[in-house]
Amino acid sequence: MKVLVTGGAGFIASHTNVELLGAGYDIVVVDNLANSSKESIRRVERLTGKKITFYEESICDEKALDEIFAKEQIEAVIHFAGLKAVGESCEKPLEYFDNNLCGTIYLLKVMKKYGVKSLVFSSSATVYGLPEKLPITEDFPLSVSNPYGRTKLMIEDMLRDLYQADKEWNIALLRYFNPIGAHESGEIGEDPNGIPNNLMPYILKVAAGELDYVGVFGDDYNTPDGTGVRDYIHVVDLATGHIKALEKLQQNPGLVTYNLGTGKGYSVLEIIHNLEKVIKKQIPYKIVERRPGDIGSCYADVTKAKEELGWEAVKELDKMCQDAWNWKCKNPNGYQDGQAE
Ligand code: WQD
Repeated sequence: MKVLVTGGAGFIASHTNVELLGAGYDIVVVDNLANSSKESIRRVERLTGKKITFYEESICDEKALDEIFAKEQIEAVIHFAGLKAVGESCEKPLEYFDNNLCGTIYLLKVMKKYGVKSLVFSSSATVYGLPEKLPITEDFPLSVSNPYGRTKLMIEDMLRDLYQADKEWNIALLRYFNPIGAHESGEIGEDPNGIPNNLMPYILKVAAGELDYVGVFGDDYNTPDGTGVRDYIHVVDLATGHIKALEKLQQNPGLVTYNLGTGKGYSVLEIIHNLEKVIKKQIPYKIVERRPGDIGSCYADVTKAKEELGWEAVKELDKMCQDAWNWKCKNPNGYQDGQAE
């Protein structure tokens, strides 16, 4: 089966590509490389010994998407492509709405035109807003407080409407919690542009001596040590969840929604101290002001994915930290190190 992977040069997508190729899928990647590197495509090909058909295009270029579908016999789509920085989305909401929403609409229109009605969508736990209780189940109320999160919720709503109008669609909404880590080879990993917004890539830069200390955004939350608690999941576990979701779609389930997390929450300080233990290095940090828009605790109830997908996360926090550090040590400057001549 040939699968189109939008945003396929990105962090989660590159790890999913390894699992897709390993499971025998053929993959076509479309990515405008705005937030990713073509090197990740080359690394995945080297890791798997398999070829990837790559198109450097934007999902906002409907004509380019049409040409890809006309040329390739696409049978399903995993849709990762999208801008994803919460803070940036507050500064540039129109860019986020244009890219994430319009890009998705063009993709869906071209899929419909070519009769491709199997879609896995990269959603986010951010659609739960401030949960009333924990752990979070898929039927919790949905609310968002920033343009990035709003694009995720609006795309979910569009897909729910599309399915109501045409029950031939099979759609899996995957709500990611906090993906960290890297493939154990250290060949692919998270390679954010500039100063990282997310915790783990920031900590890794401090551990590597590139930044002075980790600013811990508040220690006055209602959590065991006062710092924010999140459900960190190994990116390879997240990737295997996509394979299971694709298999599920082949059973014609209609529209299904799953939390992809571990069901366990760790605080910022627990993450810092666990990484210190694993890499045997001190990681300086300072308690600073809360980050606007942050919530205290967020972690998943993962029962539904286990029961309906036969999937669960298996990698523990030590492995997440080891693999994240291994990637950083092998690629101090991310993919810039490995640009082919
Ligand atoms: C984790 C914890 C921070 C950085 C967001 C999006 C989500 C997804 C992942 C895109 C929080 C604390 C962080 C730092 C800190 N985005 N922190 N110092 O905010 O849970 O989720 O990123 O796919 O949709 O909402 O992730 O890694 O930014 O923060 O103390 O320098 O670490 O307060 O408690 P978050 P994060």
